[in-house]
Amino acid sequence: MGFKFYAPASLFLLLLSLPAFAYGWGVDGHAIICQIAQDRLSDPAAAAVEDLLPNYAKNNLSRLCSWADRVKFRYRWSSPLHYIDTPDGLCTYDYDRDCKDEDGVKGRCVSGGITNYTNQLLDYGNSSSESQYNLTEALLFLAHLMGDVHQPLHVGFTTDRGGNTINVRWYRRKSVLHHVWDDNIIETAEERFYNDNVEEFTEAIKQNITGEWSDQVAKWEKCSDNKVACPDVYASESIEAACDWAYKDVKNNTQLEDDYFLSRLPVVNLRLAECGVRLAATLNRIFG
Ligand code: ADE
Ligand code: ZN
Ligand code: ZN
Repeated sequence: MGFKFYAPASLFLLLLSLPAFAYGWGVDGHAIICQIAQDRLSDPAAAAVEDLLPNYAKNNLSRLCSWADRVKFRYRWSSPLHYIDTPDGLCTYDYDRDCKDEDGVKGRCVSGGITNYTNQLLDYGNSSSESQYNLTEALLFLAHLMGDVHQPLHVGFTTDRGGNTINVRWYRRKSVLHHVWDDNIIETAEERFYNDNVEEFTEAIKQNITGEWSDQVAKWEKCSDNKVACPDVYASESIEAACDWAYKDVKNNTQLEDDYFLSRLPVVNLRLAECGVRLAATLNRIFG
């Protein structure tokens, strides 16, 4: 009797503990960004978000912030929309040169995705007719892709697929550099400093936004030339941070420990904060 119960239960636990094939910040990174953004929405933006979210996730954008990763296999066309590959070693991003998929189709990258879903959402409330788009999906893609474009290695080098082919050890465990930046730094920070609790980590970042970084927030929010979204600016910052911090001093099979963790965690904190603030500002402009 006991065994019958035991086998499926442990199989279930095993499946739960397997790292999902990682794309974008991990679940926690995306949830942190969307929680920060949710709490900064204007009244009209909060109302539109509540209207567009499915019933089980009302008022909680953060619960669905990883949806776009979960549908990557069902929506095969969407997978190039999560990243940008830039020329090896150059450390710059150029929309015309770099925003394309592996077949060279222009605009099929994370920056093009953000622009596309922003434009779809600008249809919201055009009462004349129902939008031709699924605006719930557009919102979930936009909230997710804003996160991805802020993950430094989502705007990485072409040959190593944004650090996906660079094997490293994270302390004693096997990992790849890309996964270190999607998940490992965030998980280790939560374990060491925040009682293993994503909400506590989110609160700490929110306190930095209203405290130490408060004089930078207006600059983060700004998107020049009256544009609604500014993904190319964020992509350029990401490849610069990838070169200055993520790739720096890392080769295949490097072991990454406290030196790397403690010097890179402030960069991760800053990217999560900038992204949460900018996602809110973008949604406030769209629905304003
Ligand atoms: N696949 C190819 N390049 C990638 C990147 N930079 N991030 C995630 N997946 C990728
Ligand atoms: Zn993603
Ligand atoms: Zn990723």
